[in-house]
Amino acid sequence: MTELIEAAQAYVETLFAADAGGHDVSHTLRVYRTAVFLAEHEGADPVITGLAALLHDADDVKLSPATHEEKLNAVSFLREHGAPEDTVRRIVKIIEEVSFNGTDSVVPSSAEGMCVQDADRLDAIGAVGVARAFAYGGSRGRKMYDPAEPPGQALDGASYRARQSCTVNHFYEKLFLLKDMMNTETAKRLAADRDRFMHAFLEEFLNEWNAFFVDKENCW
Ligand code: ADP
Ligand code: NI
Repeated sequence: MTELIEAAQAYVETLFAADAGGHDVSHTLRVYRTAVFLAEHEGADPVITGLAALLHDADDVKLSPATHEEKLNAVSFLREHGAPEDTVRRIVKIIEEVSFNGTDSVVPSSAEGMCVQDADRLDAIGAVGVARAFAYGGSRGRKMYDPAEPPGQALDGASYRARQSCTVNHFYEKLFLLKDMMNTETAKRLAADRDRFMHAFLEEFLNEWNAFFVDKENCW
C-alpha cells in the first residue's frame, strides 16, 4: 500500500502541474499531510485517508469536467495500480462527499472521509486560504471587493456554484462558515485559530479599503 501512496503522489504532481488558480499540487500535498495527521489523532485508516486525500481533486469539476461525474481519473489510477475494488469504492465515496456545496454540503459517512474533508477545508481557511481565494478570484477575472455587491446568504449548492461575485463575498459565502462545519475535534481546534486570523485579515482589509473614501481625516 505504501507503493500506491508514492505512485499517487507522483500522479498528482503531473495532473496538477499547470494549475496556479488555487488547485496547484501543493494544495493536494497539504491536504494529504493534514488528513493523515488528523487520521492518526482520530483513529481512522491512514492509507485510505492518504490515498483519498491525494486523489480528492483529481476529478474536480473545475479541472476535469469530463471525468468529474464518474471520478474516472481516481478510479483508473487505483485500478491500474492494482487497488482492491473495495478500496476503490471507499475512496470514490470519500471524494463524492468531500466538497463544500453551500447548504447542500454533506457530512462524510466514514471516519476517513471526515479527515479528508476537514483537511481540504482547513486549506481553504487561514493565511493560505486567503491567498488561495484571491488567486482563484484573479484567475476568473473577479474583483477583489465591490461594496455594491452584497454577499449571498444560506446559498444552496446550485446557487453557491453559480456565484460570480467579488472575492471578499467568498469569505461570507464559504470561508467563515467552515469553522463550524469541521467534523473532527483536532480540526475544530486548528480551524478556530485560522478563522480568527481571517476575521482579523478582513477587518484590516476593509479598514484600508475604506480609509481613502470614507475617513479622509485620517489619511496622509
Ligand atoms: P477545494 O479544493 O477546497 O475543494 P474549491 O475547488 O471549491 O476548493 O476551490 C479552490 C480554492 O478556491 C479554495 O481555496 C476556495 O475557497 C477558492 N474558491 C472557490 N470558489 C471561489 C470564489 N468564488 N471566489 C474566491 N475563491 C474561491
Ligand atoms: Ni481540494
